[in-house]
Amino acid sequence: MHVLVIGSGGREHALAWALAASPLVERLSCAPGNGGIAAIATCVALDPIDSQGIIGFCRREKVEFVVVGPEGPLVGGLVDKLEAAGIAAFGPTAAAAALEGSKGFTKDLCARHGIPTAAYGRFRDIVQAKRYISERGAPIVVKADGLAAGKGVVVAQSIAEAEAAVDDILGGRFGSAGAEIVIEEFLSGEEASFFALVDGKNALSLASAQDHKTAYDGDRGPNTGGMGAYSPAPIVTETMAASIMDRIIRPTVAAMAAEGRPFKGVLYAGVMIGDDGPKLLEYNTRFGDPECQVLIPRLMSDALPAFMAARDGVLDRFHLRWHDKTALCVVMAAKGYPGDYMRGSVIGGLDDAAAIDDVLVFHASTKRDNGRILANGGRVLGITALGASVAEAQAKAYAAVDRVLWPDGFCRRDIGWRALQRHG
Ligand code: AMP
Ligand code: GLY
Repeated sequence: MHVLVIGSGGREHALAWALAASPLVERLSCAPGNGGIAAIATCVALDPIDSQGIIGFCRREKVEFVVVGPEGPLVGGLVDKLEAAGIAAFGPTAAAAALEGSKGFTKDLCARHGIPTAAYGRFRDIVQAKRYISERGAPIVVKADGLAAGKGVVVAQSIAEAEAAVDDILGGRFGSAGAEIVIEEFLSGEEASFFALVDGKNALSLASAQDHKTAYDGDRGPNTGGMGAYSPAPIVTETMAASIMDRIIRPTVAAMAAEGRPFKGVLYAGVMIGDDGPKLLEYNTRFGDPECQVLIPRLMSDALPAFMAARDGVLDRFHLRWHDKTALCVVMAAKGYPGDYMRGSVIGGLDDAAAIDDVLVFHASTKRDNGRILANGGRVLGITALGASVAEAQAKAYAAVDRVLWPDGFCRRDIGWRALQRHG
């Protein structure tokens, strides 16, 4: 089969790595891909939101299956357009991707179907939003309704901070993605990510993960797309995973089907685990990044038949095998990220890093230039290691990081600290 992956991050490198290993894949392409993906797939210079260009490529090159990585094209309806053109695609339709594209939609769905989540209100009007905040008090959480690249959420410690967030978001900071806001109850507990593969009716639990969102050690500094992750998350015991499936994932899949928006693809639940069980913080309708870089290396089964079964609606009785090991990923970013950073610095030592047993070097944004690898974005590499424990995976990952020769990059040195603390 000729398979096409859409996207250019570490997530897509991990997906391409798994697909390249499938005996079913004869040809692998990636649009647009990156310098690391280029070693295992043919990179095609197409924008993920250019659906006409992608359909044209699929027709010319006889692509038989498309795996869509990022949320933008999903919410934009790429899967709908591919399927309408007769090209099989893995991922939700635009109607189903509303679970990520509109926080208000998801909150209302939870309310209608009794899915546990924080109490909330939806607002378009600044005065009404502020009245709700003064009634509820702080801490309180203010969220832009639409896609805001992970920057649309303010966990406000005071009423003044919450009001400033309302002014900021409804004032137009995120454009139409912030024309409406959700204001919700602050939940305490420990956060984890939970992933399930969904075929419209059935959900198969994949695995759990935890990430580190802030730029600097000790979970300090500005928020980023994620500076590292590990899987499984120790807090998600088997009992907890079953509870997340029963209370959150399965009711959502049933609700979406009942409301005429059957969900197919990867459902990624951000959950807060507190004293009264798991509550949904948010949904994403795709693999997380860097979470995908720790989930995929643990998957023993061929990923392609699983993705095809999800697309075809035949996931019931499907079974996936997983390595028992822990995977831990350290993101290496360009100095200055998530603020301004330079592109084009030279990265060396990648083969040395990858030579360590059980280490995978995923590229998140690099390009090739005359045999050299150059940094080409903010988050640039994901160094993933498998180990018998979080401690072992962490030690291997940092041993590999130390072999990367990149003076213009940085990483956190404490990825996994919470899991290590939990298990001593
Ligand atoms: P979201 O994009 O909705 O997951 O929010 C981003 C981050 O904000 C989450 O990963 C949490 O750390 C935090 N957060 C979101 N909603 C809440 C809430 N209701 N209570 C506490 N923290 C929250
Ligand atoms: N790492 C968070 C995300 O992919 O949304």
